Amino acid sequence: MAIRTILIYPNEKLRIKAEPVPIKKISSPKIQSIIDDMFETLYATRNGSGLAATQVAIPLRIFIIDISPNSDNPLCFINPEIIAKEGQTNKIEGCLSVPGGVQECVKRARRVVLKAFDRYGKPLEVTEEKNFYARCFQHEIDHLDGKLFIDHLVGLARRRADRRISRWHKLHRHAN
Ligand code: NI
Repeated sequence: MAIRTILIYPNEKLRIKAEPVPIKKISSPKIQSIIDDMFETLYATRNGSGLAATQVAIPLRIFIIDISPNSDNPLCFINPEIIAKEGQTNKIEGCLSVPGGVQECVKRARRVVLKAFDRYGKPLEVTEEKNFYARCFQHEIDHLDGKLFIDHLVGLARRRADRRISRWHKLHRHAN
């Protein structure tokens, strides 16, 4: 297993639309080690709740989530699709690829039905409502489509985010 580098906005690889994983390849050592690396990378951040393969420069439709307090509930979703959504909520989000500690409210569907495969190739269908999972699913699928949560921001919130991001880049210019 290895910790992968998380791409930081505005890296253009974050804009790539990821390709589906061929179902027969899910159990392959290559895909399994990508998933293991993603978990190792997520846990190494200590504060992340989810990670999309796009964020570690792998253009495949895979995302992982662990929002348990002890990091012992690893969930992996392959070729995820939201097949139904309903309602709206507006809550705070952040992202490991968006620097500067940017946290802003984003409007998301309140209820989603997610179809995907797990890391063993088993089909899943999950319904989540009014919880952090519902929000995470939408945030991570956005990543797989080359979108970031800051793309949803307008006006003052967007300007505030841009300011924090450029301040971060100025401070880290020599480190990168
Ligand atoms: Ni993110």
